[in-house]
Amino acid sequence: MTATRSKISATGSYLPEKILTNADLSKTVETSDAWIVDRTGIKQRHIAAPEELTSDIASKAALNLLSKSNIKPEEIDLIILATTTPDLTFPATATTVQAKIGAKNAFAFDIQAVCSGFVFALSTADNFIKSGQVKNALVIGADTLSRIVDWNDRNTCVLFGDGAGAVLLQATTEDNCGIIASDLHSDGTLNNILKTTGGVASSQTSGFIEMAGKEVFKHAVEKMSKSVLSVLEKSGLTIKDINLLVPHQANARILNAVANRLELDESKVVITVENQANTSAASIPLALDLANSQNKIKKGDLVVLEALGGGLTWGSIALRW
Ligand code: ACO
Repeated sequence: MTATRSKISATGSYLPEKILTNADLSKTVETSDAWIVDRTGIKQRHIAAPEELTSDIASKAALNLLSKSNIKPEEIDLIILATTTPDLTFPATATTVQAKIGAKNAFAFDIQAVCSGFVFALSTADNFIKSGQVKNALVIGADTLSRIVDWNDRNTCVLFGDGAGAVLLQATTEDNCGIIASDLHSDGTLNNILKTTGGVASSQTSGFIEMAGKEVFKHAVEKMSKSVLSVLEKSGLTIKDINLLVPHQANARILNAVANRLELDESKVVITVENQANTSAASIPLALDLANSQNKIKKGDLVVLEALGGGLTWGSIALRW
Protein backbone atom coordinates (compact mmCIF):
# COMPACT_ATOMS: atom_id res chain seq x y z
CA MET A 1 0.00 0.00 0.00
CA THR A 2 1.31 3.50 -0.85
CA ALA A 3 2.16 5.50 2.28
CA THR A 4 0.21 8.67 3.00
CA ARG A 5 2.14 11.87 2.47
CA SER A 6 1.16 15.49 2.75
CA LYS A 7 1.23 17.99 -0.08
CA ILE A 8 0.67 21.72 -0.34
CA SER A 9 -2.39 22.13 -2.54
CA ALA A 10 -3.20 25.83 -2.10
CA THR A 11 -1.60 29.03 -0.79
CA GLY A 12 -2.91 32.40 0.36
CA SER A 13 -1.64 35.62 1.86
CA TYR A 14 -2.51 39.01 3.26
CA LEU A 15 -0.45 42.17 3.71
CA PRO A 16 -1.83 45.16 5.67
CA GLU A 17 -2.70 48.20 3.59
CA LYS A 18 -0.36 50.71 5.22
CA ILE A 19 3.16 50.87 3.77
CA LEU A 20 6.06 52.40 5.71
CA THR A 21 8.98 53.30 3.44
CA ASN A 22 12.62 53.84 4.40
CA ALA A 23 12.08 57.55 3.69
CA ASP A 24 9.21 57.58 6.23
CA LEU A 25 11.49 55.94 8.83
CA SER A 26 14.28 58.43 8.21
CA LYS A 27 11.91 61.13 9.55
CA THR A 28 11.67 59.43 12.96
CA VAL A 29 15.09 57.79 13.53
CA GLU A 30 18.59 58.67 12.31
CA THR A 31 18.78 56.45 9.26
CA SER A 32 18.60 56.66 5.48
CA ASP A 33 17.19 54.71 2.56
CA ALA A 34 20.77 54.16 1.31
CA TRP A 35 21.93 52.60 4.64
CA ILE A 36 18.90 50.31 4.95
CA VAL A 37 19.00 49.13 1.32
CA ASP A 38 22.77 48.59 1.44
CA ARG A 39 22.74 46.58 4.73
CA THR A 40 19.43 44.73 4.35
CA GLY A 41 17.93 45.07 0.85
CA ILE A 42 14.70 46.34 2.47
CA LYS A 43 12.84 49.27 0.86
CA GLN A 44 9.47 49.17 2.60
CA ARG A 45 7.34 47.20 5.03
CA HIS A 46 3.58 46.77 5.66
CA ILE A 47 2.19 47.82 9.05
CA ALA A 48 -1.07 46.54 10.54
CA ALA A 49 -3.76 49.14 11.32
CA PRO A 50 -4.17 49.89 15.06
CA GLU A 51 -7.33 47.77 15.32
CA GLU A 52 -5.92 44.94 13.15
CA LEU A 53 -4.79 41.95 15.24
CA THR A 54 -2.73 38.91 14.31
CA SER A 55 -5.95 36.85 14.16
CA ASP A 56 -7.39 39.35 11.65
CA ILE A 57 -4.47 39.19 9.23
CA ALA A 58 -4.16 35.40 9.69
CA SER A 59 -7.88 34.99 8.92
CA LYS A 60 -7.58 37.18 5.83
CA ALA A 61 -4.70 35.03 4.53
CA ALA A 62 -6.77 31.89 5.24
CA LEU A 63 -9.85 33.31 3.47
CA ASN A 64 -7.66 34.31 0.52
CA LEU A 65 -6.44 30.70 0.34
CA LEU A 66 -9.98 29.30 0.63
CA SER A 67 -11.15 31.56 -2.21
CA LYS A 68 -8.52 29.90 -4.45
CA SER A 69 -9.13 26.29 -3.41
CA ASN A 70 -12.08 23.91 -3.65
CA ILE A 71 -12.17 23.15 0.07
CA LYS A 72 -14.84 24.47 2.45
CA PRO A 73 -13.94 25.80 5.94
CA GLU A 74 -15.83 22.92 7.62
CA GLU A 75 -13.62 20.38 5.80
CA ILE A 76 -10.50 21.63 7.61
CA ASP A 77 -9.43 19.17 10.34
CA LEU A 78 -6.51 21.10 11.84
CA ILE A 79 -5.34 24.71 12.06
CA ILE A 80 -1.81 25.46 13.21
CA LEU A 81 -0.86 29.11 13.52
CA ALA A 82 2.81 30.01 13.84
CA THR A 83 3.10 33.35 15.60
CA THR A 84 5.16 35.26 18.15
CA THR A 85 2.57 38.02 18.42
CA PRO A 86 -0.66 36.30 19.53
CA ASP A 87 -3.74 38.46 20.16
CA LEU A 88 -3.70 37.52 23.86
CA THR A 89 -1.68 35.32 26.22
CA PHE A 90 -4.57 32.88 25.85
CA PRO A 91 -6.63 31.55 24.12
CA ALA A 92 -4.43 30.38 21.28
CA THR A 93 -4.90 32.81 18.39
CA ALA A 94 -5.47 29.81 16.08
CA THR A 95 -8.82 29.23 17.82
CA THR A 96 -9.83 32.84 17.09
CA VAL A 97 -8.91 32.25 13.43
CA GLN A 98 -10.99 29.06 13.51
CA ALA A 99 -14.02 31.06 14.66
CA LYS A 100 -13.41 33.88 12.16
CA ILE A 101 -13.24 31.56 9.14
CA GLY A 102 -15.92 29.10 10.30
CA ALA A 103 -13.69 26.00 10.44
CA LYS A 104 -16.00 24.44 12.99
CA ASN A 105 -14.71 20.87 12.66
CA ALA A 106 -11.02 21.67 13.15
CA PHE A 107 -8.84 21.53 16.23
CA ALA A 108 -6.54 24.52 16.45
CA PHE A 109 -3.40 25.58 18.29
CA ASP A 110 -0.44 27.98 18.05
CA ILE A 111 3.24 27.22 17.61
CA GLN A 112 5.91 29.63 18.80
CA ALA A 113 9.32 29.24 17.20
CA VAL A 114 9.67 32.90 16.13
CA CYS A 115 10.99 33.26 12.54
CA SER A 116 11.28 29.45 12.22
CA GLY A 117 7.65 29.06 13.33
CA PHE A 118 6.21 28.26 9.91
CA VAL A 119 8.77 25.50 9.24
CA PHE A 120 8.06 23.97 12.68
CA ALA A 121 4.28 24.26 12.10
CA LEU A 122 4.40 22.70 8.63
CA SER A 123 6.52 19.82 9.88
CA THR A 124 4.06 19.26 12.77
CA ALA A 125 1.06 19.25 10.40
CA ASP A 126 2.95 16.84 8.12
CA ASN A 127 3.29 14.40 11.03
CA PHE A 128 -0.44 14.64 11.87
CA ILE A 129 -1.20 13.79 8.24
CA LYS A 130 1.37 10.99 7.92
CA SER A 131 -0.01 9.38 11.10
CA GLY A 132 -3.49 9.33 9.56
CA GLN A 133 -5.03 11.63 12.20
CA VAL A 134 -5.72 14.53 9.83
CA LYS A 135 -6.56 14.92 6.12
CA ASN A 136 -6.78 18.68 5.61
CA ALA A 137 -4.54 21.02 7.60
CA LEU A 138 -4.42 24.79 7.36
CA VAL A 139 -0.95 26.00 8.32
CA ILE A 140 -0.62 29.75 8.82
CA GLY A 141 2.31 32.03 9.64
CA ALA A 142 1.19 35.46 10.86
CA ASP A 143 2.90 38.19 12.84
CA THR A 144 2.40 41.81 13.81
CA LEU A 145 5.99 42.45 14.85
CA SER A 146 5.38 46.20 14.55
CA ARG A 147 3.72 45.86 18.00
CA ILE A 148 6.96 44.68 19.66
CA VAL A 149 9.47 46.83 17.78
CA ASP A 150 11.12 49.71 19.61
CA TRP A 151 10.45 52.45 17.04
CA ASN A 152 13.26 54.56 18.58
CA ASP A 153 15.90 51.84 18.00
CA ARG A 154 17.31 52.21 14.50
CA ASN A 155 19.24 48.95 14.90
CA THR A 156 16.02 46.93 14.81
CA CYS A 157 13.03 49.05 13.72
CA VAL A 158 14.13 49.17 10.08
CA LEU A 159 14.12 45.38 9.76
CA PHE A 160 10.56 44.23 10.45
CA GLY A 161 7.06 44.34 8.95
CA ASP A 162 3.62 42.74 9.41
CA GLY A 163 1.89 40.09 7.29
CA ALA A 164 0.31 36.65 7.05
CA GLY A 165 0.58 33.66 4.73
CA ALA A 166 -1.19 30.31 4.67
CA VAL A 167 -0.94 26.91 3.01
CA LEU A 168 -3.37 24.02 2.76
CA LEU A 169 -1.61 20.73 3.51
CA GLN A 170 -3.57 17.71 2.33
CA ALA A 171 -3.15 13.96 2.62
CA THR A 172 -2.16 12.27 -0.63
CA THR A 173 -1.03 8.86 -1.85
CA GLU A 174 0.17 10.37 -5.16
CA ASP A 175 3.72 9.26 -6.07
CA ASN A 176 6.63 11.68 -6.13
CA CYS A 177 4.74 14.54 -4.53
CA GLY A 178 4.56 16.25 -1.14
CA ILE A 179 6.80 16.71 1.88
CA ILE A 180 9.88 14.47 1.71
CA ALA A 181 11.82 15.39 4.86
CA SER A 182 12.17 17.97 7.65
CA ASP A 183 15.23 19.05 9.61
CA LEU A 184 14.49 20.97 12.84
CA HIS A 185 16.84 22.31 15.54
CA SER A 186 17.06 24.64 18.49
CA ASP A 187 19.83 25.82 20.81
CA GLY A 188 18.55 27.62 23.92
CA THR A 189 22.06 28.59 24.99
CA LEU A 190 21.86 31.20 22.20
CA ASN A 191 18.56 32.77 23.26
CA ASN A 192 20.23 35.97 24.45
CA ILE A 193 21.30 37.13 20.98
CA LEU A 194 17.74 37.59 19.70
CA LYS A 195 14.89 38.12 22.14
CA THR A 196 12.33 40.48 23.56
CA THR A 197 13.10 42.38 26.74
CA GLY A 198 9.81 41.23 28.31
CA GLY A 199 6.33 40.52 27.09
CA VAL A 200 3.21 38.49 27.69
CA ALA A 201 3.10 35.66 30.21
CA SER A 202 5.24 35.23 33.28
CA SER A 203 7.61 38.22 33.02
CA GLN A 204 4.67 40.70 33.40
CA THR A 205 6.50 43.41 31.48
CA SER A 206 6.04 44.85 28.02
CA GLY A 207 8.98 43.99 25.85
CA PHE A 208 10.73 45.03 22.66
CA ILE A 209 12.92 43.15 20.20
CA GLU A 210 16.60 43.21 21.12
CA MET A 211 19.28 41.66 18.93
CA ALA A 212 23.02 41.21 18.53
CA GLY A 213 22.86 41.74 14.75
CA LYS A 214 26.31 40.48 13.73
CA GLU A 215 26.01 37.31 15.87
CA VAL A 216 22.56 36.56 14.45
CA PHE A 217 23.87 37.13 10.93
CA LYS A 218 26.74 34.66 11.45
CA HIS A 219 24.51 31.93 12.93
CA ALA A 220 21.81 32.47 10.28
CA VAL A 221 24.16 31.89 7.36
CA GLU A 222 25.94 28.94 8.92
CA LYS A 223 22.95 27.11 10.39
CA MET A 224 20.52 27.59 7.49
CA SER A 225 23.13 26.40 4.96
CA LYS A 226 23.90 23.31 7.04
CA SER A 227 20.21 22.57 7.54
CA VAL A 228 19.51 22.71 3.79
CA LEU A 229 22.35 20.24 3.18
CA SER A 230 21.04 18.02 5.95
CA VAL A 231 17.43 17.95 4.67
CA LEU A 232 18.71 17.17 1.17
CA GLU A 233 20.81 14.32 2.51
CA LYS A 234 17.78 12.92 4.37
CA SER A 235 15.88 13.11 1.06
CA GLY A 236 18.62 11.44 -0.99
CA LEU A 237 18.96 14.61 -3.09
CA THR A 238 21.61 17.28 -3.75
CA ILE A 239 21.77 21.05 -4.28
CA LYS A 240 21.56 20.49 -8.05
CA ASP A 241 18.07 18.98 -7.60
CA ILE A 242 16.64 22.19 -6.06
CA ASN A 243 14.26 24.09 -8.32
CA LEU A 244 13.32 26.74 -5.76
CA LEU A 245 14.69 27.77 -2.37
CA VAL A 246 12.13 29.67 -0.26
CA PRO A 247 14.01 31.12 2.72
CA HIS A 248 12.80 33.03 5.72
CA GLN A 249 13.22 36.66 4.62
CA ALA A 250 15.48 38.23 7.25
CA ASN A 251 17.61 40.33 4.98
CA ALA A 252 18.98 40.17 1.45
CA ARG A 253 22.61 39.81 2.55
CA ILE A 254 21.78 36.68 4.58
CA LEU A 255 19.82 35.22 1.64
CA ASN A 256 22.67 35.88 -0.78
CA ALA A 257 25.29 34.54 1.62
CA VAL A 258 23.34 31.26 2.06
CA ALA A 259 22.90 30.91 -1.72
CA ASN A 260 26.64 31.55 -2.27
CA ARG A 261 27.66 29.07 0.41
CA LEU A 262 25.39 26.42 -1.15
CA GLU A 263 26.61 27.37 -4.65
CA LEU A 264 22.97 27.78 -5.64
CA ASP A 265 22.10 30.09 -8.51
CA GLU A 266 20.46 33.20 -7.04
CA SER A 267 17.69 32.96 -9.66
CA LYS A 268 16.44 29.90 -7.74
CA VAL A 269 15.98 31.87 -4.51
CA VAL A 270 12.62 33.57 -3.84
CA ILE A 271 13.23 37.07 -2.43
CA THR A 272 10.46 39.27 -1.06
CA VAL A 273 12.36 41.13 1.64
CA GLU A 274 12.65 44.28 -0.50
CA ASN A 275 8.92 45.04 -0.29
CA GLN A 276 7.87 43.15 2.85
CA ALA A 277 10.91 43.28 5.21
CA ASN A 278 11.14 40.54 7.87
CA THR A 279 7.61 39.36 8.71
CA SER A 280 8.87 36.56 11.00
CA ALA A 281 6.69 33.40 10.80
CA ALA A 282 4.78 34.87 7.84
CA SER A 283 7.70 35.37 5.49
CA ILE A 284 7.94 31.84 4.04
CA PRO A 285 4.21 31.33 3.30
CA LEU A 286 4.06 34.90 1.91
CA ALA A 287 7.01 34.11 -0.40
CA LEU A 288 5.47 30.75 -1.37
CA ASP A 289 2.15 32.40 -2.23
CA LEU A 290 3.89 35.03 -4.33
CA ALA A 291 5.93 32.42 -6.24
CA ASN A 292 2.81 30.25 -6.67
CA SER A 293 0.64 33.11 -7.91
CA GLN A 294 3.36 34.09 -10.39
CA ASN A 295 3.44 30.45 -11.65
CA LYS A 296 7.08 30.12 -10.67
CA ILE A 297 6.50 26.65 -9.15
CA LYS A 298 5.69 23.75 -11.46
CA LYS A 299 4.29 20.35 -10.53
CA GLY A 300 7.15 18.03 -9.59
CA ASP A 301 9.55 20.88 -8.66
CA LEU A 302 11.79 20.33 -5.64
CA VAL A 303 11.11 23.22 -3.25
CA VAL A 304 13.22 23.71 -0.11
CA LEU A 305 12.09 25.96 2.76
CA GLU A 306 14.61 27.18 5.35
CA ALA A 307 14.48 29.48 8.39
CA LEU A 308 16.29 30.66 11.51
CA GLY A 309 14.82 32.65 14.37
CA GLY A 310 14.98 33.49 18.05
CA GLY A 311 15.65 30.59 20.38
CA LEU A 312 17.72 30.06 18.42
CA THR A 313 15.50 27.80 16.33
CA TRP A 314 16.21 26.77 12.77
CA GLY A 315 15.30 24.17 10.18
CA SER A 316 14.39 23.18 6.62
CA ILE A 317 11.77 21.23 4.73
CA ALA A 318 12.21 19.55 1.33
CA LEU A 319 9.06 18.93 -0.71
CA ARG A 320 7.91 18.05 -4.21
CA TRP A 321 5.26 20.45 -5.52
N1 ACO B 1 20.64 53.42 9.98
C1 ACO B 1 21.86 53.96 10.02
N2 ACO B 1 22.86 53.48 10.79
C2 ACO B 1 22.60 52.38 11.52
C3 ACO B 1 21.33 51.76 11.54
C4 ACO B 1 20.33 52.32 10.72
N3 ACO B 1 19.11 51.81 10.65
N4 ACO B 1 21.41 50.71 12.35
C5 ACO B 1 22.64 50.66 12.85
N5 ACO B 1 23.37 51.67 12.36
C6 ACO B 1 24.75 52.02 12.62
C7 ACO B 1 25.22 51.42 13.94
O1 ACO B 1 24.84 52.24 15.01
C8 ACO B 1 26.74 51.41 13.72
O2 ACO B 1 27.22 52.71 13.96
P1 ACO B 1 28.63 52.93 14.70
O3 ACO B 1 29.63 52.26 13.80
O4 ACO B 1 28.73 54.40 14.76
O5 ACO B 1 28.48 52.24 16.02
C9 ACO B 1 26.86 51.12 12.24
O6 ACO B 1 25.59 51.43 11.64
C10 ACO B 1 27.20 49.68 11.92
O7 ACO B 1 26.36 48.87 12.72
P2 ACO B 1 26.47 47.34 12.68
O8 ACO B 1 25.52 46.76 13.68
O9 ACO B 1 27.91 46.96 12.73
O10 ACO B 1 25.93 47.05 11.20
P3 ACO B 1 25.90 45.69 10.44
O11 ACO B 1 26.70 45.80 9.23
O12 ACO B 1 26.13 44.50 11.33
O13 ACO B 1 24.36 45.64 9.97
C11 ACO B 1 22.35 44.54 10.57
C12 ACO B 1 23.34 45.61 10.95
C13 ACO B 1 21.68 44.93 9.26
C14 ACO B 1 21.30 44.46 11.65
C15 ACO B 1 23.08 43.19 10.41
O14 ACO B 1 23.87 42.91 11.54
C16 ACO B 1 22.16 42.06 10.17
O15 ACO B 1 21.58 41.95 9.11
N6 ACO B 1 22.01 41.15 11.12
C17 ACO B 1 21.09 40.07 11.01
C18 ACO B 1 19.99 40.36 11.90
C19 ACO B 1 18.64 40.10 11.35
O16 ACO B 1 18.36 40.06 10.18
N7 ACO B 1 17.76 39.91 12.28
C20 ACO B 1 16.40 39.65 11.99
C21 ACO B 1 15.86 38.73 12.99
S1 ACO B 1 16.68 37.20 12.92
C22 ACO B 1 16.19 36.45 11.60
O17 ACO B 1 15.14 36.68 11.15
C23 ACO B 1 17.12 35.49 11.00
